[in-house]
Amino acid sequence: MEIIIQPTASAASIIAARLIARLVYHKPNCVLGLATGSTPLATYQELIRMHREDGLDFSHVTTFNLDEYVGLSPEHPQSYHHFMQEHFLRHVNVAPERIHIPDGMTSDVPGLCERYEAEIRAAGGIDLQLLGIGSDGHIGFNEPSSSLASRTRIKTLTERTRNDNARFFSSPAEVPLHCITMGVGTIMETRQVLLLAFGPNKAQAIAEAVEGPITAMNPASILQMHPVAKALLDEPAATSLRRLEYYRWVFDNKPDWQRV
Ligand code: PGA
Repeated sequence: MEIIIQPTASAASIIAARLIARLVYHKPNCVLGLATGSTPLATYQELIRMHREDGLDFSHVTTFNLDEYVGLSPEHPQSYHHFMQEHFLRHVNVAPERIHIPDGMTSDVPGLCERYEAEIRAAGGIDLQLLGIGSDGHIGFNEPSSSLASRTRIKTLTERTRNDNARFFSSPAEVPLHCITMGVGTIMETRQVLLLAFGPNKAQAIAEAVEGPITAMNPASILQMHPVAKALLDEPAATSLRRLEYYRWVFDNKPDWQRV
């Protein structure tokens, strides 16, 4: 995994946006895997700025979101459908028919999950997957103990994740128990991964994911086996890394052609 540590979350988000923009520019019909939560917000803001000011064109891009809460309609203010519209999609020009987010209201969860996987395959696979990380090491909503070979399916959220996400709801009890999430195996098939982590609450999960053993108890740790994975961190999220100085040194000594 390539570890990129930046002084601030906003500096790291600008790098993430540049990497995504570079892909969209070179492959206008690319397939992007998108994430929700607080972490990718500044990346989306920068992409929206690039769309408005530099003409970054998403009209041929296809998107697949990682996850959705079971039981929340697309109009629900805490649904990930709503999140994506508010924070990214309604501000850019992705064609509505190329936007894919699991339907949390489906009456046939297994059927929907199978179709989601088939749609990803039919689109040619995901070129770049944007990821946050849970304070428990989850990616998507693949909670600790998730199979590292899992596919899109229903999951039950841990109490920790429900508490972490309670800030978006009027009470913790309102956070749904279940979600539909791409599996760890689904994420591992994407061609490139950008893992973003900001703030001290993510330091332990990041240290385990980057330097710990590969274990289902920290699903992000499987990214050690991904051929093209970058972790973009701010200083507080990087504090528990043992080889911190080495990662900085590697980044500072990149050849010019590799710079973002
Ligand atoms: P956050 O969530 O960006 O809101 O911290 C990350 C995640 O749970 O993957």
